[in-house]
Amino acid sequence: MGSAVLRAAHVREDPPPWILEDTRSEQLLSEEERRPILEEIASWPPEVAAAFRLSHAVRTRLAEDLAVEGIGDGRDRYVLLGAGLDSFAWRHPQAGALEVVEVDHPATQAWKRRRLAERGLDEPANVRFVPLDLARSPLDAPELRVASTLSWLGVTMYLERGAVHAVLGAIARAPRGTTLVVNFLLAEDGLLEPARLVRATSRRTVARAGEPIRSTYTRGECEELLAGAGFTSIEVLDAESLAGRYCSGRPDLRLPATTVVAVARV
Ligand SMILES: C[S@@+](CC[C@H](N)C(=O)[O-])C[C@H]1O[C@@H](n2cnc3c(N)ncnc32)[C@H](O)[C@@H]1O
Repeated sequence: MGSAVLRAAHVREDPPPWILEDTRSEQLLSEEERRPILEEIASWPPEVAAAFRLSHAVRTRLAEDLAVEGIGDGRDRYVLLGAGLDSFAWRHPQAGALEVVEVDHPATQAWKRRRLAERGLDEPANVRFVPLDLARSPLDAPELRVASTLSWLGVTMYLERGAVHAVLGAIARAPRGTTLVVNFLLAEDGLLEPARLVRATSRRTVARAGEPIRSTYTRGECEELLAGAGFTSIEVLDAESLAGRYCSGRPDLRLPATTVVAVARV
């Protein structure tokens, strides 16, 4: 729910052109669900709130760009691991050209499907839902039988390292061309201000929400983890390289140096 509100906040509070225009996810929330999240965000220092809404927009935009790039390039399936309230299938003009597979914790997914129905948002014919607890069950092989673009955003930090390793290993055994976009939280020790303030804020917020941070990594550990899982091409994008890609000429938009997003290919 927080990710949905932050993506919409990018459109509400940052000047256009937007990196990602997603107000659809937030529409799944009721006013009672949305209000405490907005109050929580309003209690953060303004630069922290700005950093969070931008990082959520950028990570999703990167995954969607790679998914669309895959159309006609042998990757016609877009698999979202821990999809949450992602709205790609209901919003993106090219979504219909892809088979979209939403994998998520059974509780989250059941809630989303109920809410979609209540909002009158049909499940498009090209979307498939797979309920799966990634901390307990291995990623199902059938989902990985064809080369796909996989998005695994905002999830690794809530899993122990062993579970993250197991999921990466399963993806790395998928057919050649499979492309994964995954983000990791950087270890707190290596963070400087203002990233430290951003991390302290998120640690407090997610712990209060009952979903504590379980794993963080150094940049080198991210590379080792992906190489050890068996990916052949690994690009780890930090705040600076993501800003170069999506925020050039926008000194008003500042990404936090608290996470990295990796693009790993089989
Ligand atoms: C912060 S949300 C991110 C959602 C979405 N990827 C995004 O970027 O907006 C975290 C997601 O991870 C999922 N998740 C957390 N633990 C999980 C588990 N053990 N198995 C499957 N999904 C899990 C939650 O259900 C939720 O959808």
